Amino acid sequence: MPQTVVVLDFGSQYTQVIARRIREAKVFSQVVPFDTPAKEIQKLSPVGIVLSGGPASVLAKKAPRPDATIFRLGVPVLGICYGLQLMGAMLGGKVEQSLAREYGRGELRIKRKGKLFGGLPNKMLVWNSHGDRLVKLPKGFSAIASTENSSYASIEDSKRNFYGLQFHPEVEHSERGFEVLGNFLFSICNCQGDWRLDDFITQIIEKIRRQVGTKRVILGLSGGVDSSVAAALIHRAIGNRLTCVFVDNGLLRLDERAEVVQLFRDNFNSRLKVVSASKLFLTKLKGVTDPERKRKIIGKTFIEVFEKAVKSVGKVDFLAQGTLYPDVIESVPIGGNPAALIKSHHNVGGLPKRMKLQLLEPLRELFKDEVREVGRGLGLPKHVLMRHPFPGPGLGVRVIGELKRSYLRTLREADAILQEELMGTKQYYKLWQAFCVFLPVRTVGVMGDERTYEYVIAVRAVESSDAMTADWANLPDKLLRIVSTRIINEVKGVNRVVYDISSKPPSTIEWE
Ligand code: XMP
Repeated sequence: MPQTVVVLDFGSQYTQVIARRIREAKVFSQVVPFDTPAKEIQKLSPVGIVLSGGPASVLAKKAPRPDATIFRLGVPVLGICYGLQLMGAMLGGKVEQSLAREYGRGELRIKRKGKLFGGLPNKMLVWNSHGDRLVKLPKGFSAIASTENSSYASIEDSKRNFYGLQFHPEVEHSERGFEVLGNFLFSICNCQGDWRLDDFITQIIEKIRRQVGTKRVILGLSGGVDSSVAAALIHRAIGNRLTCVFVDNGLLRLDERAEVVQLFRDNFNSRLKVVSASKLFLTKLKGVTDPERKRKIIGKTFIEVFEKAVKSVGKVDFLAQGTLYPDVIESVPIGGNPAALIKSHHNVGGLPKRMKLQLLEPLRELFKDEVREVGRGLGLPKHVLMRHPFPGPGLGVRVIGELKRSYLRTLREADAILQEELMGTKQYYKLWQAFCVFLPVRTVGVMGDERTYEYVIAVRAVESSDAMTADWANLPDKLLRIVSTRIINEVKGVNRVVYDISSKPPSTIEWE
């Protein structure tokens, strides 16, 4: 059992960010529900306990509270935001509703550095988000830092090793917040910082084994990073009791299907069911031009096909998904509403309920870069782990208007050239996404002595950190020139290539 810091979750969207920061410091952290009995927590032999923030008010009747025994375990406790107020209220202090809600960045003035602020400056900018505030300290505590709105922005009881921070040290907008967390881990909890990702993989695998027992699991493999890592992990845990289903919807990129088959069937030797459904998808999409209708049809058909495939596999009990910790954007805009930045993840419709499947989501607590690390540890190749996001409806939203086999074929060939050139020049890894779009518009050209009247390919390449905003990438002229020449020379039916120079907003990344 590695040295563990337990994070009690009071519902803050940052709970997993706290856990992640602790892991970054090479200390294992485990998030548990706020009401986990102290006895259970004790079984994890924690070297520290963190009380997360949360949306509730400590003053509310039904405010979530932990088992009070956690304060008698002799383990250091750090309360963050709601966690500080909770600790204050539970140990005999007083919390009141504040007139001025403190939100956004403010200056923290440190009165006494002690262990928590050791090595840090006297003033730092920190990120706050709270309505209530502590107005009377519990016995044994003293205030060690303040902000404009709160005299108790940080408190300590150094005898019992209890600490509180009214601000969020885990978000990037808190200057040197990671060092504050680090001080808690290393100066107060005496952590070693020797935890490694391999240990983590072992732990996740053990957890999967415990959860699944002798039952069987099905997973929809898309070939993207998340489902590939989830598949590799579950396969390592339960071998052939995992069946992966890959649906070929006819909207895939060139050689995509073959690559997935090669990696999972030939390389990992895992059970893989490939469903050829391109005819069905394209029939249903015939004559449809509206982007949202295309999306709906593709989504609905996917569920139908997937459900049929699941039934054909025989008895399964779990549906595995590569759900990540919902992408909480770490660079929370100052004064902005962080909740608005949380992306929702997609689910396979109502399938789990209809088919009475339990969900297995081994990556739920991880961030994308951690998932990539896990994938690396499991031996997945770099080109899979660093792959650009690819939308569920695939090339269906990259052929403008009605989908035709010939258009898809043309788009696939053009896109393969773009990808090859981006890989060759290493530009691929600098970009968030880069792809071709097929425009069903014909323009005039000249080849040799002849006039041509052929289609247009648009090249889109963007830089972004979260897809919420994006800017077109300033790709080297030489690269653009090669891509354009090669597409026009090598792809039949195309005589013009244009480069998309629109940012998001007001444009979107995809064209449909
Ligand atoms: P937009 O085009 O809205 O795209 O700027 C933002 C990100 O989302 C991806 N995207 C989708 N992903 N189903 C998906 O799974 C969709 O219908 C879909 N539409 C857009 C897009 O590729 C980009 O990464």
